[in-house]
Amino acid sequence: MARVVLGVAGGIAAYKSCELLRRLIGDGHEVRVVPTRAALEFVGAATWAALSGQPVAHAVWSDVHEVPHVRLGQEADLVLVAPATADVLARAAHGLADDLLGNVLLTARCPVVLAPAMHTEMWQHPATVANVATLRSRGVMVIDPAHGRLTGADSGPGRLPEAAELAAVAESVLAGGVPPRDLVGRRVLVSAGGTREMLDPVRFLGNRSSGKQGYAIAAAARDRGAQVTLVAANCALPDPAGVEVVPVLDAAALQAAINARAGQVDVVVMAAAVADYRPAVYSDVKVKKVGGGLPVVELVENPDVLAGLAASRRGPAPLLVGFAAETGDSDADPLTHAWRKFAAKGCDLMVVNVVGDGVAFEVDTNAARILAVDGRQWDVPHGSKRRLAEAVWDAVGAVGGGD
Ligand SMILES: Cc1cc2nc3c(=O)[nH]c(=O)nc-3n(C[C@H](O)[C@H](O)[C@H](O)COP(=O)(O)O)c2cc1C
Repeated sequence: MARVVLGVAGGIAAYKSCELLRRLIGDGHEVRVVPTRAALEFVGAATWAALSGQPVAHAVWSDVHEVPHVRLGQEADLVLVAPATADVLARAAHGLADDLLGNVLLTARCPVVLAPAMHTEMWQHPATVANVATLRSRGVMVIDPAHGRLTGADSGPGRLPEAAELAAVAESVLAGGVPPRDLVGRRVLVSAGGTREMLDPVRFLGNRSSGKQGYAIAAAARDRGAQVTLVAANCALPDPAGVEVVPVLDAAALQAAINARAGQVDVVVMAAAVADYRPAVYSDVKVKKVGGGLPVVELVENPDVLAGLAASRRGPAPLLVGFAAETGDSDADPLTHAWRKFAAKGCDLMVVNVVGDGVAFEVDTNAARILAVDGRQWDVPHGSKRRLAEAVWDAVGAVGGGD
C-alpha cells in the first residue's frame, strides 16, 4: 500500500479522475485527493471525499492543526496530478504555493507525475512548452496528452490519457521511480498483439495475446521521449496517446508493416505473438460443414520477422528486441532454450517469459528475464506490464540504444 496524493486541477477532464481514483484505491493505495478551487467547479468535494474515504480540501486553511500544507507532500509516496491544467503547470514550474496543491508540490520529495489536459493552443503555447521543459528538467514526469476530441467539437493533442493508462504509470513509478527521458530524438517501432491466419472469411488460427505488453512498451517509450509507431495485430485496446498505430491482421501484413518502417527507426521491439504457421489454402467462401470425415488443415511456415530483420541489418541499427515464451522439457530448462533461441534469432535483447512462472495472457501483470547479446541478464520480478516495459527500455539503454 502506498500513500498517493491525487491532485485534480480545474479542467473539463476532472470527471475522469473519479475513475482514476477508483483504480488507485482498487490497487490498494491510500489516496488523498487535493483538488484546486477550479476543480471543485467541475466535480464537488463530496464526490472526492466519498470515493477516497478521506477528507478533502483545496486551501491550506482546513485542519490547520495537522499542518496539511507540509505533511501531505512530505508523507506521500507519489503525487499524481490529473488533469493538470496549463495554470497548474505554470504554478508548479514557478513554485507558487497559493493553494494546498501548490504546497504539496513544493514539499513532496517523492516522485511527481503530472498529466496535463487542455486545449491544443494552450498545450502548444510557448509558455506551457517552457513550463513543461522546466518541470521535466527537475525530474517531474510530465505525460504528453492524448490526441482526440477536446471539450467542444474540435480535436487535437490535449486530452487526458485513459484512467487505466494513468493508473499503470502510477504503479510503475511507485515501483521504479520516474523513468528517464533517454529516448528523446529516438524513433522506435513496436509490434503488439497476436496475428490471425485466416482459413476463410470468418475463421482464423490465432493466439491469446492481448497486446497489453506491447502497448505498455509503446507508452513507456513515448513517455521517455521517443517517437513511437505501434504495429498492432488484433488488439482491442484504446490507442496509446501520442503513438502512431498501424493495425494489421496476419503475419504477412505485420511483416510488411514492420519491414517498411524498420529502416527509419533506432529500435524495433517485437512484442507481438506472430503465428509460426498459416493455412496453406485460404477459402474465399466460408468452408461448409459437410459429412464424410473431418477436415484437415494443411499448414505452411510463416517467415520469421525478427530473424529476417536481423539478417538484413547492415550495421548496429536498428537495435532489435525479441520476445520469447519458453517452457522447460526433458532436453533443457526454459532459460537454456531461451539462450539458444536468442542466438538463433540474431537480435540484441530477448525478453523471456517463463510460461507458468507468473506469466499470463490477457492480464495486466508479467514477469520476465531480459537477456542481452553481451551475456548480461536482468530478472524482472512479477509486476505490471508497464514495469516490465520500463525494464526493457532500461536494458535498451544499457546495451547502447538510449542516450
Ligand atoms: C468549461 C471549462 C473547461 C476548462 N478546461 C480546461 C482544461 O481542460 N485545461 C486547462 O488547462 N484549463 C481549462 N479551463 C480553464 C481553467 O479552469 C482555468 O485556467 C483555471 O484558472 C484553472 O485553475 P487551476 O489550475 O487552479 O485548477 C477550463 C475552464 C472552463 C470554464
